[in-house]
Amino acid sequence: MRSLIFALLASVVAASRYVVYFDQWHAASLPTRNATAGITHVVTAFASSTLFTTDPPGVYRPFMNLTQVRGLFAPGTKVCMAIGGWGDTAGFSAGAATEETRKLYAKNVAATVKRLGYDCVDVDWEYPGGNGEDYKQNPNSNKTSEIETYPLLLAEIKKAIKCKELSIAVPGREGDMIAFTAEQIPKISDAVDFVNLMTYDLMNRRDNATTHHTSIQGSLDTVNKYISLGMPASKMVLGFAFYAKWFMTAPGYICYAAVGCPTVLLEAADGTDTGNSGAMTFETGNFAPLPSNLTETPDGTCGAGTAFKCKSADCCGQWGFCGTEVGHCGTGCQAGFGRCEGASTKESFKKALASAKYDSLAGGAWYWDSAFNIFWTWDTPAIMASKFDQIVVPKGLGGVMAWSLGEDSLDWSHLYALQAGVKNLKGSDSDSGN
Ligand SMILES: *[C@@H]1O[C@H](CO)[C@@H](O)[C@H](O)[C@H]1NC(C)=O
Ligand SMILES: *[C@@H]1O[C@H](CO)[C@@H](O)[C@H](O)[C@H]1NC(C)=O
Ligand SMILES: *[C@@H]1O[C@H](CO)[C@@H](O)[C@H](O)[C@H]1NC(C)=O
Ligand SMILES: *[C@@H]1O[C@H](CO)[C@@H](O)[C@H](O)[C@H]1NC(C)=O
Ligand SMILES: *[C@@H]1O[C@H](CO)[C@@H](O)[C@H](O)[C@H]1NC(C)=O
Repeated sequence: MRSLIFALLASVVAASRYVVYFDQWHAASLPTRNATAGITHVVTAFASSTLFTTDPPGVYRPFMNLTQVRGLFAPGTKVCMAIGGWGDTAGFSAGAATEETRKLYAKNVAATVKRLGYDCVDVDWEYPGGNGEDYKQNPNSNKTSEIETYPLLLAEIKKAIKCKELSIAVPGREGDMIAFTAEQIPKISDAVDFVNLMTYDLMNRRDNATTHHTSIQGSLDTVNKYISLGMPASKMVLGFAFYAKWFMTAPGYICYAAVGCPTVLLEAADGTDTGNSGAMTFETGNFAPLPSNLTETPDGTCGAGTAFKCKSADCCGQWGFCGTEVGHCGTGCQAGFGRCEGASTKESFKKALASAKYDSLAGGAWYWDSAFNIFWTWDTPAIMASKFDQIVVPKGLGGVMAWSLGEDSLDWSHLYALQAGVKNLKGSDSDSGN
């Protein structure tokens, strides 16, 4: 009996996953092996979903040699290939459609991970059933069959990659859980080894009032929703964001609290971005002085983390591309890297971090910049620690996940917060075994 208990405890410890996404847009400044210690899975992002729909498949070239990727982590860390990402759904829709397309898709995924030497696969379909970036062009009503075909595609991929692990990234907002019904979740759960909960971006540009994007309460609501739909807690890993989000609030309003302050229009009627919201990472480039060796961009990229400025007439937008649209020139434009018409969110962010408020009811850090009507929402290392105590442990989750590694390069404090939290998890497991 005792040995059975020890065996069970050992399996609990072994099952605890510490997953980080490593994205191609944030590879300029990377952590030491000390900072990455404890990570069990690194997920490189992204391979395009459309590569796997053809026979033969398209050729995926990872943004970094996998030998180099492995060198950033402890020996034995699994390196997974993420497919898809925000805005990339077409290949999944096509791949999931019929038994024939599913088999081809799965065969192609398996061949690609074998060719490149990946240990695991992450399907990042945002989202099966709709509410993706193109929801106004390709309506949800055109995607209802995906509710049925999504678990079938996952099962086919799992069958093809055999003992390699399969994970999925799933929406944090209840309204986006279109394909995650009580009927489908057992099938989804059976097909995958673990589930990356995107418990961030819980406020997005489709909202018209402020709230936290990754608060303790918001994350807990997502977890409870999936549990109520039948997702096993032990398969879910809790997502953390290594970035803040900002939203413009309506003129004339003073935002006294984090929740419920009206915003300006954040998304246009055709589903496009109005340029009135965005994200700000904790990467070193966002806090550094302007590089002294700026040169004109050879490829349209610019801004924090690069030494590239735009052509004189162009603006450098928050996402690091030159252009002349409101998204490049308006709020969030990167002054010094190009022309700028809007407020500098970098300056506002520094103010927010220095004067942060804490909403103890929801469990979230926030700030409202009255000079520019900008609302900020983010996670501090202390709030991250609380999420272990208030969510990961009591709900019996299977671990934690972060988006994304290179976004924390200022001081790696969020990464270290996860490392400490994971270490405590293991510590308390072995304590109870003694
Ligand atoms: C890394 O960790 C080792 C062992 O804990 C320690 O001796 C060393 O000083 C650390 N290095 C850095 C750069 O923090
Ligand atoms: C990856 O990099 C290593 C070390 O730099 C090199 O030996 C190896 O040939 C590279 N592999 C590929 C597939 O490029
Ligand atoms: C509806 O979905 C099909 C299959 O994915 C696609 O080919 C078609 O373009 C979609 N319709 C619209 C209006 O986008
Ligand atoms: C804001 O969104 C809510 C929920 O989507 C909606 O009911 C409400 O009418 C909207 N308010 C405004 C002012 O657009
Ligand atoms: C600019 O300077 C930085 C810091 O000295 C250096 O890392 C980078 O490679 C330089 N970039 C170019 C394009 O010269």
